[in-house]
Amino acid sequence: MTDTLLWYSTRGAGAVSMILLSAVVVLGVLSTMRVQSAAWPRFLTTGLHRNLALLTLVFLALHIVTAVVDPFTHLGWLAAVVPFSSYYRTFWLGLGTIAFELLAAIVVTSLLRGVIGQAAWRIVHWLAYASWPVAVIHGFGTGTDVLSAWFMVLAIVCVFAVALAIIIRLMQPPADPLASARNEFRVGVSRKSNP
Ligand code: HEM
Repeated sequence: MTDTLLWYSTRGAGAVSMILLSAVVVLGVLSTMRVQSAAWPRFLTTGLHRNLALLTLVFLALHIVTAVVDPFTHLGWLAAVVPFSSYYRTFWLGLGTIAFELLAAIVVTSLLRGVIGQAAWRIVHWLAYASWPVAVIHGFGTGTDVLSAWFMVLAIVCVFAVALAIIIRLMQPPADPLASARNEFRVGVSRKSNP
């Protein structure tokens, strides 16, 4: 009974982690595009991005702990820390460990952002683009549910959403860092010429 519960928890928490991680990546991409409207101010995108990232960690912790303590697989804690050290599905589990460690690096640098500076934080944050496909491939490689219709639909929606966000982002012209300064200057000049 306990083994079955653990196994279902690993699978359920894995699927939820994949959905949440995809949403976090989409929101991260949207926040770099400064998407906003009257009904959706920009802080909502960044706030949701941050809070969903924290929720992802909670489900990932559940996914990993239940996988490690499951007596059927006997994974051991080393498998969760050292990539490709597991005797069980070595390659696919190794990818999961790598994805988790990339995420851990993103979390730690986000907490230390004030110390390490914006430039270093941004470089590490780019790892999110790598951790997402690695995590999805891990799920496909090792998941029990990958051939179920519900998992397929979820995975296709996740892949489609992230791919669409990245394509839209790549099609955007580069942001003008001096746009607001230029705007203020223009307003100042027009005020002076129309006293
Ligand atoms: C970003 C990190 C990770 C994500 C997003 C993720 C996600 C997933 C997903 C979606 C599945 C398929 C679940 C299903 O079949 O319903 C899965 C399976 C699995 N994952 Fe992960 N995973 C991650 C990291 C890890 C790590 C670090 C471990 C443990 C060392 C791990 C252990 C497992 C195991 C044992 C399975 C197979 C469960 C089964 O028997 O079906 N995962 N994972």
